[in-house]
Amino acid sequence: MTQPIGISALSFHTPHRYVALATLAEHHGIDPEKFSRGIGQDKIALPGHDEDVVTMAAEALAPVLAAHGTDGIDTLIFATETGIDQSKSAGIYLHGLMNLPANMRHVEVKQACYSATAALQMACAHVARHPDRKVLVIASDVARYDLDSSGEATQGAGAVAMLVEADPKILEIGTVSGVFTEDIMDFWRPNHRSTPMFDGKYSALRYLNALVEAWRDYQAGGGRAYEDFARFCYHLPFSRMGDKAHRHLAKEVGTRADAAAVTPGLTYNRQIGNCYTASLYLALISTLETAEEDLTGAHLGLFSYGSGATAEFFDATVVPGYRDHLLGARHGEILKSRAAVPYDAYTALWQSPKGADAARVDMPEEAAGRFRLAAIDDHKRIYADRGA
Ligand code: CAA
Repeated sequence: MTQPIGISALSFHTPHRYVALATLAEHHGIDPEKFSRGIGQDKIALPGHDEDVVTMAAEALAPVLAAHGTDGIDTLIFATETGIDQSKSAGIYLHGLMNLPANMRHVEVKQACYSATAALQMACAHVARHPDRKVLVIASDVARYDLDSSGEATQGAGAVAMLVEADPKILEIGTVSGVFTEDIMDFWRPNHRSTPMFDGKYSALRYLNALVEAWRDYQAGGGRAYEDFARFCYHLPFSRMGDKAHRHLAKEVGTRADAAAVTPGLTYNRQIGNCYTASLYLALISTLETAEEDLTGAHLGLFSYGSGATAEFFDATVVPGYRDHLLGARHGEILKSRAAVPYDAYTALWQSPKGADAARVDMPEEAAGRFRLAAIDDHKRIYADRGA
């Protein structure tokens, strides 16, 4: 029997400010139900000017390190499409900020919203070769679309930190995967732009096609039957995409979609918005933490989609005792203690900090948490740890 490999810690962070989609609807003079029902979103998380993918990752990672320490961790894979540097991995900034051990390797990976899944699979493969080693997988992104564009309502921000090891405490990751790639322009962000180009309706159609193709590949590789799954977790650019995806997959297998298999996974994302690479893993955390029943032994189907496009369908099985390792109370507090901002404050926060022109830019103190981007000095990002 092969040794189980999977996830022993699952932690998320999102900034403490949000703009309600009802505020956006009022400003644009449109029916708020278009957002609450049509796309299934209530709030968009808003980072301050002193928060970015590194500070959000640090906030998500802190409780993982507090619970597990750093023994055996030799790799950190940072998945993002909101890179802060074209050369240096965001993980190395995180390394410094969190005082991680020197005998580690770091790499940043990118393929739109998909790359955290590549990171998770690489982590599992590494642990399969070295069962005494552990890997940190970080997914962290700020989803920022142009103001007044159709994507504006699908913004958000957040990070997920995962610890991957042998004999995992929360989820065993299955060894069968279905994958699919096609070269398309549904959503992309050229280097000269801070916001993406996208064709929203086309991207949703390609997402659904990629789901079917990845599912077929998963089945061809000997994957579990549809009926074996207690829950499905989907990449959620907006929560209603999960409903649509689930109905589409049910149609592909010739059955009726059971909404209860997907709804628990939508709860957190409705309140945070899209967080690109972290989005599927936020849905996974939501699925595990909002379930009333004990999911021990349950099989979960996971679908990861990254525009451009690459997709993967894979499975995970919930491990006995998993509830003891979830951070539901902490996550509930993060979501409960946030504050709504009015429209004008939202557009002010929306502007990214610029480090390009001035010799030094000191960031306003807007982050509420422990970690912040204090300044960009001579093109170098200076992070600060304000202590627990
Ligand atoms: N009450 C209830 N529902 C309403 C309504 C009302 N008053 N008004 C409209 N709606 C419904 C519409 O009927 C529609 O439902 P269907 O999808 O079932 O037809 C839904 O609300 C959305 O309405 P529109 O299609 O008119 O909305 P839109 O033109 O503003 O576009 C969007 C929606 C395409 C998702 C857009 O927000 C967008 O482009 N987002 C960014 C791209 C994106 O998220 N793509 C997803 C796939 S790509 C991916 O997954 C990668 C990634 O993370 C980006």
